[in-house]
Amino acid sequence: MVDKFDFGMFLPVTNNGMIASTAPEYQYMPTFELNRDACVDAENTGYSFALAQTKWRGYGGKTELWDYATESLTLMSGIAASTKRIELIASVSLPLLHPGVCARMAATIDGISNGRLILNIVAGWNKMEYAPMGLWPGDDYYRYRYEYAVEYVEVLRGLWEKGRLTHKGKYFNLDDCICQPLPKRSIPLCGAGQSDAGMKAAALWADYNFIMPNAELTTLDLSTRTQTFARQVGRSVRSYALLVVIAEETDAKAEAVLDHINETVDVEAVETWRRLGQADATGSSAQRHRADAFMGVLPIVGSYKTVADRFCELHAQGLGGAAMVFPNWGRDVKKFGENVIPLVDAALLGNDVRLTKKSA
Ligand SMILES: Cc1cc2nc3c(=O)[nH]c(=O)nc-3n(C[C@H](O)[C@H](O)[C@H](O)COP(=O)(O)O)c2cc1C
Repeated sequence: MVDKFDFGMFLPVTNNGMIASTAPEYQYMPTFELNRDACVDAENTGYSFALAQTKWRGYGGKTELWDYATESLTLMSGIAASTKRIELIASVSLPLLHPGVCARMAATIDGISNGRLILNIVAGWNKMEYAPMGLWPGDDYYRYRYEYAVEYVEVLRGLWEKGRLTHKGKYFNLDDCICQPLPKRSIPLCGAGQSDAGMKAAALWADYNFIMPNAELTTLDLSTRTQTFARQVGRSVRSYALLVVIAEETDAKAEAVLDHINETVDVEAVETWRRLGQADATGSSAQRHRADAFMGVLPIVGSYKTVADRFCELHAQGLGGAAMVFPNWGRDVKKFGENVIPLVDAALLGNDVRLTKKSA
């Protein structure tokens, strides 16, 4: 059993985020201001972290879903300068950035944020994000992408630990490569693999691994699989989930929001997303779900109390935290922070530790 539950956001760095709806109220651009304000609201209401994904190609459809995206590392650099407490998870697409460059960019954001950066290691599952730049390593990459990730991390950690590195490996050759000044802390890493290969790689180096629970496959199964692989290599990895949250004053109000989104799905965009995910014949598991409005992400829906109870159940299943997607970022981040987080804290910790920490 983990101690407390870490609430975080899966930031709206792509247009419309994970709400694949054609309804006018869910159309937005992923501006810096939108993302920054969400982070400021979040750190004022007890959240632990914000994650910015790395995306290079969208899925079209009526809403041109994810055809507009901000870049993760540079976005988080700006947010680092605009916030004080929240941990910032920036993502790197491995085929796009040499680890020598990534190590220095991450060390820079670590400095700007005063030691609040976490790096999300994205091996890459979508050929269409990289092929247009001529940077797709070939379809064989699906087979070895997590082996590549393991060596990539070895180079990152080598540079961050010593400031200079000579490395002769299968994928990278560095000859007295320098990354100075050193980061303020050992930069934590996370992964988000759902396949055995992805989870086994994360078991070797990740501090956190994100899982995608769905209605059929319980959180417990996924989290246990991650923990089992970690134990096999003598480590422990904290499991976080990716979830959509629709929390309103009453169950009925929340269900009405869910119904409206489900009635207005951008079917064409979601089908494109699903088809691209199936290109990985080695067993990527994230895109197997039916074409739904949340792109395979499980929605937690209900009154503040219903939603808080659900998070307590997930916590009891061994989940350490969750990155959440909201339908209305300007309103929902604060609303969830003020109404749901205190209920979960009270249930799990017996008192409001987060508020105590904040006022300290
Ligand atoms: C919370 C979360 C964050 C993710 N971030 C990214 C990302 O930034 N870019 C990306 O291409 N894929 C991202 N993914 C996809 C994963 O990296 C991974 O490829 C996917 O979950 C499928 O697992 P597999 O690669 O082991 O098959 C993310 C997944 C989750 C659950």
